[in-house]
Amino acid sequence: MDPNVHNIILVGFMGTGKTSVSRMLASRLGWNCVDTDAEIERRESRSIPEIFMQEGECRFRSIETAVLRDVLGGTQQVVATGGGAVLAEENRILMRERGFVAALTAKAETIIERVRQDPERPLLKGNLEERVARLLEDRKHAYDFAHMRVDTSHLDIGSIAQRIMDQAGSL
Ligand code: S3P
Repeated sequence: MDPNVHNIILVGFMGTGKTSVSRMLASRLGWNCVDTDAEIERRESRSIPEIFMQEGECRFRSIETAVLRDVLGGTQQVVATGGGAVLAEENRILMRERGFVAALTAKAETIIERVRQDPERPLLKGNLEERVARLLEDRKHAYDFAHMRVDTSHLDIGSIAQRIMDQAGSL
């Protein structure tokens, strides 16, 4: 790995495989694996749906930025972020400064199939197909700032991890 790469940061819409790929990458690199959603829940001692319900999305986003900033103070980590962590410019700048950013993508059908298993996502309440279509449209350029992009719809986790390692190593 290029010594200038301090962290690998995975961004992408919900259900694109950030958590699974981050675990695989961390185990191959011998780096720590950090999931910012899990870190938010640990620090807040409550779940993400609870934060949304009790204090709203705006408060969630400010906690998310604070956690991202703290986590990215470290090095040799693979960091899986929440799907909306890319919305704030401040976060995008920080991510590019502190590591190699890989955006995972997937087809809408694949995303719907994957997120259907987990009813915990507050932004997907209601008609799942409609919510995913709407958010994908709203966020269609949100991941463009990443150093690379991988479509995970038809690739296994090991191959996705390998592509990211190859690209990060050739920075
Ligand atoms: C969100 C994605 C979720 C979580 C929160 C908001 C989003 O993370 O951070 O529910 O705005 O896309 P995952 O992408 O890990 O599901």
